[in-house]
Amino acid sequence: MKNLIDIRDMSVEEIDQLIHTAIDIIENKEKYSKKCKGKTLATLFFEPSTRTRLSFEAAMFELGGNVLGFHDAGTSSTAKGESVSDTIRTVCCYSDIIAMRHPKEGAPLVASQKASVPIINAGDGGHNHPTQTLTDLLTIKMEKNSFNNMTVGFCGDLKFGRTVHSLINALMRYENLHFVLISPQELRIPEYLRSEMEANKNITFEEVSDLNDAISKLDILYMTRVQRERFFNEADYIRLKDSYNLTKKTLLNAKEDLKILHPLPRVNEISAEVDDDPRACYFKQTLYGKYIRMALIMKLLKIE
Ligand code: NCD
Repeated sequence: MKNLIDIRDMSVEEIDQLIHTAIDIIENKEKYSKKCKGKTLATLFFEPSTRTRLSFEAAMFELGGNVLGFHDAGTSSTAKGESVSDTIRTVCCYSDIIAMRHPKEGAPLVASQKASVPIINAGDGGHNHPTQTLTDLLTIKMEKNSFNNMTVGFCGDLKFGRTVHSLINALMRYENLHFVLISPQELRIPEYLRSEMEANKNITFEEVSDLNDAISKLDILYMTRVQRERFFNEADYIRLKDSYNLTKKTLLNAKEDLKILHPLPRVNEISAEVDDDPRACYFKQTLYGKYIRMALIMKLLKIE
């Protein structure tokens, strides 16, 4: 594997190995503190980010490496009209590995075709977000110790939510999963993914709109924000933005061992009162994101 553009670039075995490394990093941090000495990660963020960019940067620092990049394309030559391909060719001269986020679906794939160093897709438009999925999988491993035999609820913006698309793609390769896709009619899963789920033998799924009806059967609840920046008009966003609000009351009917995940940032879809519930995992999930990215950087740089 040279790049990580789509979570399916990795086999289930490679993902297992990466999770194994991430857990070893958590348990033996010191052992990894110089693994990337002399190596440079570039973070090219053409779209806003807090967790993804900073966790990549923290990951590289904790591996003893260096970081450069930009987090506002308006201050880069993009603002002068430079193409993604030319920007990438340039940054390849100064770095050993690149993490890139872009509003256009497929931009990291195009970048990888021009690049002489590994490219990591850190989110492309409403399409994919494979490193968030690795984060989610490490969280599920730590909290449930299995990827099989579960009912997983995905709630919120399933149309534009790239983290949902990548996580569904990853989970479809495990066994005996049931997905409950909870969204307003307008924000249902894209047709291409629905067809893939229909053809898949490992999973079954249902599409519903009410979280309260679904909550009692879930083992994992993956909440998402309504993706304001992907809407064509503000009125639609305003109408749909408060479709869900997970509260203590909603959780009265939930399983004791439910695990609540959210890629963050959250807006109104989870009330702050839920943060103290032992079932809330989203801040732990943020921390796991750093460790799995450490493991990923080492893998792509072929560092043992
Ligand atoms: C997600 C993203 O950028 O897609 N955030 C993240 O990377 N943790 C989810 C979101 O923005 O809603």
